[in-house]
Amino acid sequence: MIKVMTLFGTRPEAIKMAPLVKALEADPEIQSVVCVTAQHRQMLDQVLDLFDIKPKHDLNIMKAGQTISEITSRVILGVESVLKEEKPDIVLVHGDTSTTFAGAIAAFYQMIPVGHVEAGLRSGNPYSPYPEEMNRRLTSQLSALHFAATEGNVENLKKEGINVQSIVKTGNTVIDALMTVIREDYTFENPLLNTIDYENRKVILMTAHRRENLGEPMENIFGAVRKIVEDHEEVEVVFPIHMNPAVRAIADKHLSGHDRIHVIEPLEYESFANLQNRCALIMTDSGGIQEEAPALGKPVVVLRTETERPEAVEAGTVVVAGVEFEAIYRITSQLIRDEATYKSMSEAVNPYGDGKACGQIVDAIKNWRNSK
Ligand code: UD1
Ligand code: UDP
Repeated sequence: MIKVMTLFGTRPEAIKMAPLVKALEADPEIQSVVCVTAQHRQMLDQVLDLFDIKPKHDLNIMKAGQTISEITSRVILGVESVLKEEKPDIVLVHGDTSTTFAGAIAAFYQMIPVGHVEAGLRSGNPYSPYPEEMNRRLTSQLSALHFAATEGNVENLKKEGINVQSIVKTGNTVIDALMTVIREDYTFENPLLNTIDYENRKVILMTAHRRENLGEPMENIFGAVRKIVEDHEEVEVVFPIHMNPAVRAIADKHLSGHDRIHVIEPLEYESFANLQNRCALIMTDSGGIQEEAPALGKPVVVLRTETERPEAVEAGTVVVAGVEFEAIYRITSQLIRDEATYKSMSEAVNPYGDGKACGQIVDAIKNWRNSK
């Protein structure tokens, strides 16, 4: 038996690790143990409930308004105790959060190999996304196995001197997750979402949470969104707002009191994914949404200065708008008004795999173990 400990803590990690946990649990050669840091509490629990995942270890570290250093130190200490008890053969971490990096270094300190799921994404700017770009680079250095979603991700790892034998191209597990929840006849739990006329209105789905956008960039983003709604009568905005109080304060200032701007609580994944499938376009600073939306053929206006997901830009469904009021207003307005621009960006393409990433990761772990 190979003892595999899966470690995650935030909403996007949970969504992308959920199908992998299921695949590990289903394999008779693997003993699967799940440890969550609960860097996110409620937003993590939404995903655990949906996929019926019951962690053996829950570090429950979240505090309101936590700093990166607080998360990192709490995760390193908590994971150390769990690793000493469980002694897994390998620890799997995902992506780029502080849970990812801190979990990887905690495993390294115990001399336990790390497998990095969604390895090799790079923006090239250590401060954008912040701290995720650096978390990714450091996690690569700490990992023994690298599961890369695309050829570009593989190349990024090779450029940094990562041994090519330790890299496996698998596609992104987000597609595995997405395929389990999209349904054309889906009925939302939130009644508001069932009353919106998706055929005849231009429904914009928005999310925003990035640390580097807190402050002036987010003021610009929300200001531009308000003006877009005011200037286009056919537009309706749905904004499932992140639980970060800093995001909520800025949103209150710019987005409250308009009958075509719906600021709602975070949606559980199934609802959110199906809302992506129904809306006209998406405005976001999220990473994962840039991978899901192309598969659903939904144009995405990225509210950041750069992206570590160039495949989605090359595929034509994603445009990086930056964080200035004018550019966000102009690019989004053109998508709303100009049929040709909209059509050119709404072809469904999927640079992120065939929904079979999890099976390939499980096989790679078994091959790695057998070759030792
Ligand atoms: C974190 C990750 C980011 C990832 C994002 C996904 C870091 C440093 N950041 O950012 O990479 O893109 O998650 O959403 O790892 N909160 C709650 N309940 C929750 C979740 C958050 O109340 O379920 C509030 C808390 O006050 C918390 C704050 O939001 O302190 C911020 O959460 P945190 O995990 O520190 O940062 P995110 O911006 O969510
Ligand atoms: N998501 C969700 N509910 C929401 C908003 C987003 O389930 O209300 C999902 C979304 O489909 C994607 C993931 O959460 O899979 C993205 O998470 P987030 O934007 O918080 O983090 P990032 O991907 O930027 O790290």
